[in-house]
Amino acid sequence: MEPEHLEKNKAMWDERVPIHVDSKLYATQAFIDGQLSVKRDEIEELGEVAGKTLLHLQCHFGQDTLSWARLGAKVTGLDFSPAAVMGARKLAEAIGVEDARFVESEVYTAPAALGGERFDVVYTGGGAINWLNDINRWARVVSDCLAPGGTFYMREFHPVLSAFDDDPEVTTLRPRWTYFHDEPLVWDEPGTYADANAETTHNLSYEWNHGLGEVVTALIGAGLVLEFVHEFPYISYDCFPFMVRGDDAMYRFPGELDGVIPLMYTIRAHAPD
Ligand SMILES: C[S@@+](CC[C@H](N)C(=O)[O-])C[C@H]1O[C@@H](n2cnc3c(N)ncnc32)[C@H](O)[C@@H]1O
Repeated sequence: MEPEHLEKNKAMWDERVPIHVDSKLYATQAFIDGQLSVKRDEIEELGEVAGKTLLHLQCHFGQDTLSWARLGAKVTGLDFSPAAVMGARKLAEAIGVEDARFVESEVYTAPAALGGERFDVVYTGGGAINWLNDINRWARVVSDCLAPGGTFYMREFHPVLSAFDDDPEVTTLRPRWTYFHDEPLVWDEPGTYADANAETTHNLSYEWNHGLGEVVTALIGAGLVLEFVHEFPYISYDCFPFMVRGDDAMYRFPGELDGVIPLMYTIRAHAPD
């Protein structure tokens, strides 16, 4: 990744971690009190993790990593933000998970930062791969971190979302941008998705929208064996202002718009034996 992109994105994330820890969206106290942050679909689709070693790439401040630990996995979280790694260690201590390990590293240097260790499970969650410029290199990292026969599982926000107008005033689904991006998306806005009114100064950031075909092709190219790609008509946050929250805490479009486009996807694959 270009040093400029890496440096700006890291500064942006470092500043946002403490805001996220204290935010309503992340509900950290509820997590400490026992709530899991990984979603029901993820738990069912990934399957049994108890007794397995699990690497979480781009772990943020560790809620999802530690959710898998609560489900019995021996976890390692990796993130390039020192604030995220520190937050994750504090959270592990707060909930008494002593054997969780958190490593500071860029995704692309993960295999070296982890000393070449290979894991039974490699996991990544919502809002992660859009921060990476090279999806083929990411897929090779996933492959390099998996033990023979190990499972890769990811949940991600659907890339088609980037084609639609998400202006705060918008009241319906309206194509405005494109699904296909050759250049990074450049943002320079204060606040964060967890608290739009938060005061922030490190606002310049770079994102890459990776189409579903690109992601699947990258994983196949890295030697993984795909088991499924699932697309969902709901999502874990209100990415458009007019979405409605269901009893399952997922957001959908209202009325006739419900189900017209996919909003999240999951992929499970495994490394050859
Ligand atoms: C939206 S958060 C992760 C989302 C996670 N599913 C959650 O909600 O807790 C994205 C994370 O990716 C990390 N990140 C971004 N670019 C990275 C990179 N190149 N290498 C490692 N971590 C990165 C950020 O520090 C941040 O913690």
